[in-house]
Amino acid sequence: MKVVLYSDNEVINDLYVINLQIFVDAQVLVVSNVDSLKEALTSEVELIITLSQVEGRDAGAEVQTIMKDGSLQTPLLLIGEKSSIAHTHGVETLPGNLNLQLLIRTIAKMFNITAKDMAFKDLPDFYPIPIKILSNIDTAPCDIYLKMTRTKEEYAKIVDVGRSLSVKVKMYLQRGVETLYIPKDQRAVVANLASQRLNEKLQEKMTPDMAIDVVEQGFELIAEELSQNPQANEEMVKISKSCVSAVSSVINSVPKIKSLLQSLLENKSRFIYMHSVMTTYISNHIIKNISWGSEEHAEKVAFVLFFHDMFLIPVYNKYPEFKYEEDLIFNQVLDDKEKEIVLSHARMASEMIRNFPRMPMGADAILQQHHGMNGGVGFALEYQDDISPLAKVIIVAEEFVNIALKSKDEGTAITKDQVVSQLRTRFTRHTYKKIIDTLDNLQF
Ligand SMILES: [Fe+2]
Ligand SMILES: [Fe+2]
Repeated sequence: MKVVLYSDNEVINDLYVINLQIFVDAQVLVVSNVDSLKEALTSEVELIITLSQVEGRDAGAEVQTIMKDGSLQTPLLLIGEKSSIAHTHGVETLPGNLNLQLLIRTIAKMFNITAKDMAFKDLPDFYPIPIKILSNIDTAPCDIYLKMTRTKEEYAKIVDVGRSLSVKVKMYLQRGVETLYIPKDQRAVVANLASQRLNEKLQEKMTPDMAIDVVEQGFELIAEELSQNPQANEEMVKISKSCVSAVSSVINSVPKIKSLLQSLLENKSRFIYMHSVMTTYISNHIIKNISWGSEEHAEKVAFVLFFHDMFLIPVYNKYPEFKYEEDLIFNQVLDDKEKEIVLSHARMASEMIRNFPRMPMGADAILQQHHGMNGGVGFALEYQDDISPLAKVIIVAEEFVNIALKSKDEGTAITKDQVVSQLRTRFTRHTYKKIIDTLDNLQF
């Protein structure tokens, strides 16, 4: 299958090329600017994959224009949702760069390729792998071969399984070798290992904007899975772990909450996600400035906030006119079952994370109390003292964010001091007062 990939992200390119080659037998031509894209899009191309943005422009729209001009009917797969053509008719849209399995599954479905087709395909005994892909792997996962001559099918083993790979790869790279070979039955192993390494690399190189994007995709992905089955699985644990650490790196890299909000708006982040990330930011500030706060508390709170409203996402998705949790309670639109979910979303999420391996200690209790109710059902009207201190931090931080965002909705510029004074009227008990005091030196 002939595939054109329009992308300016080198790590993603490597990742996609190897996986498409191995799992759906695609030859991928990568293009990174409009001119080469125009040249590449011929009638022989069977699938076009494009990132939603290339060099900050709407790449999806660019592809579609070229297709229209050339009257091409090629199937189009869009990666990421930041293009105007996302989710429009005839455009298969996938979330950002996180999930390779989903990519392969989607393509297989589009072209009716089954796992059986792939397994029984006639492949040469020695399977070609771009040497660049192998350069990310330290130890050889299988025997590695070099093709001896251009014309004849003769291969020599250059590295044994389990031995160090990097030195040899570097040497052949310098000699201009572009392809090495592996036994054909090892190709899935090598692809998975290489993907893992590239994913790690992708996360190292992530800019705050990319991190925000990845976290949001992860957020949606988990919410989606939970709506099918409200139980944690291994994939979720993995995704949430990298999301929570990405959130932490984002909030630590912005000096002011205003710049955080700016990035979130520029990324067209959804409201529910925006309020979670901003609440994490404020909680972090409180913990850093309160006498008993520790690094461990900050991590726990980031974890809790990632999940705290997860079960509300399907409800928000169904009723995009609602933004705040109180909108979800005080309305006549939701049916009884949905209201029930709204009322018990704290308890449901708490029960779900309880089964997480290596859950931060006590995170489930804090999550359960995030609306001030010990049992995790309902919303407190009077805030009491009998909940955990970290739950209080979250409650105050979330209220701070809600007040600030609501005033933004109304188009009024509220100062931080005004927000803080509203908080003081709302939370009168001593333990809350101490938490609110830490906001005095917050940079707005
Ligand atoms: Fe919330
Ligand atoms: Fe909530």
